[in-house]
Amino acid sequence: MPEENEIIQPESLIDVKNVLLVGSGKGGVGKSTIAVNLAAAFKRDGLEVGIMDADIYGPSIPPMLGISGPPGVKNEKMVPPVGHGIKIMSIGFLTREDDALIWRGPILHKVLKQFIEEVNWGHLDWLVVDLPPGTGDVQISLAQMLIAGGALMVTTPQDIAWRDVRRAATMFDKVDIPIVGLVENMSFFVCPNCGEVTGIFPQPAGDAKREVAEGVFIETLARIPIEPSIAASSEKGMPIVLAEPESETAKIFMELAKKIAGKFSK
Ligand SMILES: Nc1ncnc2c1ncn2[C@@H]1O[C@H](COP(=O)(O)OP(=O)(O)OP(=O)(O)O)[C@@H](O)[C@H]1O
Ligand SMILES: [Mg+2]
Repeated sequence: MPEENEIIQPESLIDVKNVLLVGSGKGGVGKSTIAVNLAAAFKRDGLEVGIMDADIYGPSIPPMLGISGPPGVKNEKMVPPVGHGIKIMSIGFLTREDDALIWRGPILHKVLKQFIEEVNWGHLDWLVVDLPPGTGDVQISLAQMLIAGGALMVTTPQDIAWRDVRRAATMFDKVDIPIVGLVENMSFFVCPNCGEVTGIFPQPAGDAKREVAEGVFIETLARIPIEPSIAASSEKGMPIVLAEPESETAKIFMELAKKIAGKFSK
């Protein structure tokens, strides 16, 4: 018998090898973009991948993967729609686009529970969970419902965004979910004409300095450029990792996927 408060992996995730949460302290830093490209990178490596869009207030995974649902139903379980070979579950399949969701506490918990337990996820090597920004009810609820192998933090390079990451990292720590590392998004811009590299935001002081200053060390696993085609490909429903597989950016994502897999295998 499990002890009280002990978290056990739900039946529906029994055949899911790795659960990776993608979170951030701040909104709009590129979590969903990183989540879909990472999922695509795992897929390109020949793995079975699912994405759970846990951003129930602002679901953006379905359009980013060019899928509008709805899920099928089989044996009283939802069957996730598939986009680019990736199984997807999102509240965006079940609500109208202009519905304002104000679920909190118990109802929110119930909806998330359905997304996990009443979905036929089947066999997956990776289930990537796209979180809403911050440290709210969704994060806490999820942590009580499933066992995640780790959380990937996303930030932009400014110091303020970084401070928000630290806050989020503290929250994950409290719920015993290890942080696998950090992705610094919109890190730099490469001029398409001359190739010159420009930092868009004030550049951070480097990992070592951060460690001293913040009292936490989170390894930076990748730096992603700010690039029109990253946004454009998401907009068209095909992550850049699939749309431009030979691009430098796709290579950065493939490398990131490898690093994360390495961390999980330890
Ligand atoms: N590296 C990038 N280069 C160019 N555009 C980007 C990049 N990363 C993200 N974007 C764009 O920035 C916007 C916000 O990205 P995204 O939706 O992934 O952020 P988010 O952190 O998931 O936001 P939210 O907190 O609202 O869930 C999107 O339009 C996306 O296409
Ligand atoms: Mg998002």
